[in-house]
Amino acid sequence: MALRTIVEKGERCLEKRCRSVVNFDERLHILLDDMGDTLIQSGGVGLAAPQVGILRRAVLVLETNVAEGENEYVIELINPEIIETSGEQTGPEGCLSVPGVFGLVTRPEYVKVRAQDRFGEFFEVEGTGLTARCFCHEIDHLDGRLFVDIADHIMDDEELKAYYGAGEDE
Ligand code: CO
Repeated sequence: MALRTIVEKGERCLEKRCRSVVNFDERLHILLDDMGDTLIQSGGVGLAAPQVGILRRAVLVLETNVAEGENEYVIELINPEIIETSGEQTGPEGCLSVPGVFGLVTRPEYVKVRAQDRFGEFFEVEGTGLTARCFCHEIDHLDGRLFVDIADHIMDDEELKAYYGAGEDE
């Protein structure tokens, strides 16, 4: 298990447009393995390569919409592109690189992504609810965009309590 340090807002690497991954090699696999360990350890639902200081188009998203009794699993997306969206959801969003801050962000309710896997094979994956939100949030990181830049507004403690106290999970 190798953990990488998650950089926080203010670091330049979070503001840059990342370059495509071109080599699907051992080096990429080590990065993805380390990002996976770092994501699980952090308790987050997604992590983008620039958050660990690597300016390449690679993200991880935790698929949390699983049937009861089944395990959540990490989706690796290399050079991801959003190819379809529908609907709309507005809810609280946070980021491992902006600790302790939550903002109300409007995202599509459904998102379809085309990406490559760690071996360079193309695939498509769909997500709804939190997973759709996470696809958008992580792919935004690859273009240097943070949720605080696009939030309708930043939530105060009262609002957070209203959301989370009511048992909402996103
Ligand atoms: Co983030």
